[in-house]
Parts: sequence; structure tokens; C-alpha cells
Amino acid sequence: MVQAILGARARLPVREVVEIFAPANIALCKYWGKRPGALNLPVTSSLSLSLGNRGSRIRLRVAEGPVDDVCLDGDRLDGDSAFVRRTRAYFDLLCGPRRPAFAIEACNTVPTAAGFASSASGFAALVQAVDAIMGWGLQPAELSVLARMGSGSACRSLWHGFVHWHRGEREDGMDSFAEPIPTRWPELRLGMVVVDAGPKAIGSTEGMRHTQQTSPLYAVWPEQVARDIVDLRVAIEARDFPALGAVAEGNAMAMHATMLAARPALCYWTPGSVEVLGRVWQARRDGLELFATMDAGPNVKVLLLEQDCAAALERIPGMQIIDPWQYAGISENP
Ligand code: PMV
Repeated sequence: MVQAILGARARLPVREVVEIFAPANIALCKYWGKRPGALNLPVTSSLSLSLGNRGSRIRLRVAEGPVDDVCLDGDRLDGDSAFVRRTRAYFDLLCGPRRPAFAIEACNTVPTAAGFASSASGFAALVQAVDAIMGWGLQPAELSVLARMGSGSACRSLWHGFVHWHRGEREDGMDSFAEPIPTRWPELRLGMVVVDAGPKAIGSTEGMRHTQQTSPLYAVWPEQVARDIVDLRVAIEARDFPALGAVAEGNAMAMHATMLAARPALCYWTPGSVEVLGRVWQARRDGLELFATMDAGPNVKVLLLEQDCAAALERIPGMQIIDPWQYAGISENP
């Protein structure tokens, strides 16, 4: 597949150094489940919102020595660490075995210490950095396909705002890429609530596999996603916040329900997660429009509108509120 995209392009750098930023993203309709094979092909489409200036910044240059040199948030990483091994494997995939060694400085502006996954923004930044240093000039859809190979959700992190990852039909995965949705919604905000900062016990790939193989509820998941994607597209187009929030929250709860029904049950929630969910639901009963979503971990993300930020912080102290429309140092909201 990489060969089909790169064709006869040279796998040699044409620039000395490049610097790229890619935003993290949170799915409003989740990707949960892979088709067979090693291409990270999803069972369903999914839809996300990027996190503005929260993501990964990568500075890539050709290394002076013969081995890759990887720094993350200012610390040089051990060559055997999982992060370095995954990065090296991705360079090999893109550039082949006779590639030069790279020096990479990665810096995350997502609250990483807070346990929010940054692999999506990391691989999205990395593929764009390799494209730029090699002078390949790949199309956005091609970059999205290659980012998907690093981490599925990375294919959505090439753009700001709302992004729709099309499942695709082809077995070679060439039609499974993401595209931006042009609608902007400057009042929309996303709150991050840190429940547990530690790494998750079961990664998303393993969690998906276990759910697909053992959960009787997984059978209905693809049909639900198909409906949720349509409803989300309509809600985004109409900027209908209660509709958007209700579908996004329902979709996340349905995903976790498939995991709870797996055998044995897979539960990423902790008592802290349930407490935050309770606060979100109580706020809604009191007329404050907050909606929750959760990924493969215990932390809770809250969808809300700009006008409700102060009231939301009273309900959920410590929540970090992110403006998805603020990036590149420019705010759309003066
Ligand atoms: O991209 P991965 O393999 O880390 O999987 C992401 C899975 C979820 O975060 C739970 C859902 C999603 O669509 O981002």
C-alpha cells in the first residue's frame, strides 16, 4: 500500500529540517473495531473534532549518527522504549530499509501528563514531516491513508475542525481516509477532565479485538454508527448543539456498552469517571447543556458552548476547556 502511494518517489531527504504541528482529535462518533489484516482498516466510519492548538509539534532532521535519535518533551528516549520502537517501525514503513537515520524532537501540547492519547497527533505530524523532508508532495488523502497506518485515529488529525473518516470498501485500504467537514462552529468548546493520569492497562487495539471477538452487543454497533454519523452531519450543518451533544454522548456510551458486554467485561471507567458523568447529567437536568464523551480510558471529555463555560466550571472544577477553533496563534474568537 505504501508502494502504491509513493510509486517511484525517491526515499532520500531533500531538506535538512522540517517542523510540523498536528492537532489531537476527539471522536464524536467513535472508531471501535478493525477489519481483518494489518492495515488499520475500520469496521465503520467515524467523525471527530480536532483540538485546535493542542496536539504534537515535531521537528525532524537527518541524524548525524547512524541511529535514530528521539526526544519527547525535552527528554532523550531510550532506544528500546515502546515509543522509539513504534516511531522507528513507522519510518521503516514509509522510507524503506535503506533510509537515513532521523533525529526527531516531539513536543506534545495535549495534556499528556494527564493521560490523553497523543498518538493520533503524533503520527499525523510525523507523516507530514517525512513527506516534507523527502519532498514527496503527497495529496492530503494519501497522507491520511499513511497516517492511518501509524494509528487509526491519526488519519483524522491532519485537519482542524470537524473531520469525517470514511470507512472505505477496498481491501487495499486506499479508500479509507479522512476528509475535513468545512462547517465551522466558533462557539463550540471541549472540556478535558482528568480522572486518572496513568497509562491505560489495555490498549485500544487489544480492546477492540476483545470486544469484536466476544461481545454479543458488537453486532449492533455498525448499524448504530451508521445512524449516528448521519445525525451528527445534520446537527453540525444546522449547528444544533443539543442534537450534536446527545448523539455524541449516546455514541460513546454505546461503544462502552459493547465493551461491558464483552467476556470478560472490559471497563475503562473508574469511580472517578462515573462521578464526572454524574455531574454532567445532573447539570443537564438543571438546564445546563453539557454532554460527555469518553475514549479507551477513564478520562471524561465534555462538549459545551462558550456561553456555558463559567457555569460548567462551577459544576466540574479543574476541567480544562479547549477552544477547537484557536490554532496557529490565531483565535477566531476575539
Ligand atoms: O487510533 P487508535 O487505535 O488509538 O483508536 C482510537 C479509539 C478511540 O479513541 C476509542 C475512538 C476514536 O475514534 O478515536
